[in-house]
Amino acid sequence: MATTPSRPLGVGLVSVGWMGRLHSRAYANLPLVYPELGITPRLVQAADTAEAGRAYATEVLGYDSAVSDYREVLANPEVDVVSICAPNFLHAEVGIAAAQAGKHIWIEKPVGRGAHETAAIRGAVIAAGVTSSIGFNYRQPPAIQRARQLISEGALGQITNVRGRFFGGFSADPQSPRAWRFVREQSGSGVLGDLMGHLVDLVHFLLGPVSSVTASTGTYITERPGLPGTPDEGRMLPVENEDYANMLLRFDDSAVAAGALGTLDASWLAVGPKAEYAIEIFGTEGSLRWDFERMNELELAIRRPGQSLGYTRLFADDTFPEYSRFQPGSGTPMGYDDLKTIEAKKFLLAATGGSSDNSTIHDALASAQVLTAAEESAASGQWVATPVVEGHTGNVKGA
Ligand SMILES: NC(=O)c1ccc[n+]([C@@H]2O[C@H](COP(=O)([O-])OP(=O)(O)OC[C@H]3O[C@@H](n4cnc5c(N)ncnc54)[C@H](O)[C@@H]3O)[C@@H](O)[C@H]2O)c1
Repeated sequence: MATTPSRPLGVGLVSVGWMGRLHSRAYANLPLVYPELGITPRLVQAADTAEAGRAYATEVLGYDSAVSDYREVLANPEVDVVSICAPNFLHAEVGIAAAQAGKHIWIEKPVGRGAHETAAIRGAVIAAGVTSSIGFNYRQPPAIQRARQLISEGALGQITNVRGRFFGGFSADPQSPRAWRFVREQSGSGVLGDLMGHLVDLVHFLLGPVSSVTASTGTYITERPGLPGTPDEGRMLPVENEDYANMLLRFDDSAVAAGALGTLDASWLAVGPKAEYAIEIFGTEGSLRWDFERMNELELAIRRPGQSLGYTRLFADDTFPEYSRFQPGSGTPMGYDDLKTIEAKKFLLAATGGSSDNSTIHDALASAQVLTAAEESAASGQWVATPVVEGHTGNVKGA
């Protein structure tokens, strides 16, 4: 395989939680999966306020050093790109400072505590001229990439409606502690930002920009025990945001799905589903559906006059984008880490001036606007308009 000379790229990381570890593994995998790019990430410095996070960064992930103040990472001249994997309340503060420091950013969703914070980060990214990539990993499965191709080619005919559900059970236990996700000051919205944000981005990616929404939200576990090891241990404290949300939506005229309608739900309390992140798209000529719990499968039905056919289950294979980088033949599953490796590739390709189809801060604002509109609608009971964001990479007509 032809290779270009390797150019080490200095990586900084803010927060060494679940996502921080995953971003780090993705950087480590990148030169193994995409050697021809000649991009060799070097894990330079990580920041976490928790000692355990700092120790994990140096002893397990292999960062040269770890500090408690993220500003040291942003000031480090050996750091070229920064992964921002902090809780939501830090996204705007860190994202804006990173852009102002001239660092390219790969930032986790929901990119702030509402559209106003996402817009502020977007302003800083545009002003600094740095690259941005967003942790919208559900764009990356080969089955989803193939689904976008099929929709763009018109295989489903005119899109009539979309139904999406992002159902997780990771907060279903009422005794699971009141971590940052349940506190409005630290998280912003609840399941809207956490799961619905992914689903809205997936809808944008497959079908194009949404122009208006109406939504309802509910909180069913209204208090949780305080976090162990903190002054709140032993006390029950209020849950300050929603744990279920639903939404009706309409598409913009520029969207591939112009004229279609949609219904979306998200819950992190669902008993049964573990990560049932699923979408079903209907058109005049066919339908398709996908579920993250069966990430490597795409179900497709194409109308044949005079025949009564149901869905056909397709396994991802080397005809689907990216699949053959990971496995040689269909039926051998890719995993969640692989999605982040693809995301890292797209981010670093864009950060080094290459052509890339990475999601960007414009896509983050497009998703955040819909979530903020959903919150407004849940309060007012009205439909709320969501203007199209310039620079978004959603699926538009003629793309
Ligand atoms: N893309 C996805 O599918 C996905 C999945 C999970 C989480 N996320 C997002 O990733 C972000 C992080 O979530 P997580 O699940 O990794 O969180 P986590 O709770 O596992 O980790 C958070 C980390 O932040 C650290 N931290 C807290 N305050 C800090 C500070 N001031 N400076 C530096 N570090 C600090 C904590 O010590 C902890 O290590 C969130 O925005 C979340 O929405 C995205």
